[in-house]
Amino acid sequence: MFVQSDIADGETVTRTMAAHDIDTVVHFAAESHVDRSIVNPAEFVRTNVLGTQQLLDCARKAWYVDGAWHANVRFHHVSTDEVYGSLRPDDAAFTENTPYAPRSPYAASKAASDHLVRAFAHTFGLPVTISNCSNNYGPYQFPEKLIPLVILNALRGLPLPVYGDGLQVRDWLYVDDHCAAIERILLDGALERTYNVGGRAEHTNMEIVRTICALIDTIFVESPELCDVYAACPAARGERTDSLITHVADRPGHDRRYAINPERIATELGFEPAHNLPGGLRDTVQWYLDNSQWWMGVLDGSYRKWIAQQYGDTR
Ligand code: DAU
Repeated sequence: MFVQSDIADGETVTRTMAAHDIDTVVHFAAESHVDRSIVNPAEFVRTNVLGTQQLLDCARKAWYVDGAWHANVRFHHVSTDEVYGSLRPDDAAFTENTPYAPRSPYAASKAASDHLVRAFAHTFGLPVTISNCSNNYGPYQFPEKLIPLVILNALRGLPLPVYGDGLQVRDWLYVDDHCAAIERILLDGALERTYNVGGRAEHTNMEIVRTICALIDTIFVESPELCDVYAACPAARGERTDSLITHVADRPGHDRRYAINPERIATELGFEPAHNLPGGLRDTVQWYLDNSQWWMGVLDGSYRKWIAQQYGDTR
């Protein structure tokens, strides 16, 4: 059952939790894009901070009845490595004990929501776990993020915008691996424990962009029928896709490097990512080639209609 609602709408959340006797909340919902948070911080505070507080309140009211907690209930908060701030090249990767130092409105809003989750555990006894993950990529990613943006701009022959020198480092995690890690935490994670989730795949943005371009060049040679469909892509003319790379003004306050130390979740819960970056990127480029109807709908704004067709308009 899919219910489309705003997490800050406590009434709908309470009604939904009661109607379906929900015992587990996995809180993925957030305003997630750093650039958008620079343009409009208020939206991030509203959804990520106040929305999280609403969800926590609803879970507490649903699960704490007549002075006792329901058995086997769990609130899992999906958060980000950005709460830990930015690393220099030689700094050790983030552990679960790295002090919080968020540096963008987005990161600050996620840090605040982490603190609220821990406060609800400490003050009220809400059973919680938290995960802080690195950069996700894979199918269905909204084309505001670096990897889908580069794939879709490349296919349409548009510039590939690289902020500043492009030597910023991110630790890339395939979305299925992230979901597998969350499942491990839900099944065996200790209450009130935080788990960092990363992909063991640190790369500069330039490496990522160049790898995607090379993949597109190769795929167009293997599948020449793509040349007619994506005629504006340089690869369709036998030219290099990386010719589209364009250095643009840097993001204000751009964090230089994120890197996750994933030892806790590896040793305590036996989690290791199953995808390496070359394979994951190849699958991702292929997914966007195979699902053009989806991303064209996203780009022209008609994805809302698509969501309603898939799930029904449940508002
Ligand atoms: O680290 C986890 C975080 O990863 C998540 O918490 C965030 O929700 C998610 O948006 C992501 O944050 P980033 O800012 O790292 O992701 P983004 O895809 O926006 O950018 C990745 C890197 O690429 C970053 O250094 C900025 C750069 N970039 C991004 C865009 C959109 C460019 O150079 N050009 C671009 O056009």
